[in-house]
Amino acid sequence: MSENGWHVICQNTDIDEGGMLPFEVGNFQVALYKVNGEIFATDNVCTHGMALLTDGFLDDDVVECPLHGGMFNVKTGKALCEPVDCDVKVYKTRQVDDRIEVLLSE
Ligand code: FES
Repeated sequence: MSENGWHVICQNTDIDEGGMLPFEVGNFQVALYKVNGEIFATDNVCTHGMALLTDGFLDDDVVECPLHGGMFNVKTGKALCEPVDCDVKVYKTRQVDDRIEVLLSE
């Protein structure tokens, strides 16, 4: 379901505090994170190789890639340490009633 690029991808109760979930929406692979009650979304594919960030580890607002340990800030997408040197794309999120929506655009 899409409205002006906003896609409903789950219910707020589907994702635990400090947790992350993977979603595929069309051509997008999206990682959703819940940090201190707030929802953030990034591309789920690491910018360094073919690994899904949701297979890694989330510590507060930092996700660690499972393959080589690269880290990204999930709020800003900023690459934080080697071997990643390219930021990961972030997507806007919003909550409408209990639904989590993500704005997906190229
Ligand atoms: Fe993610 Fe290498 S694939 S750090």
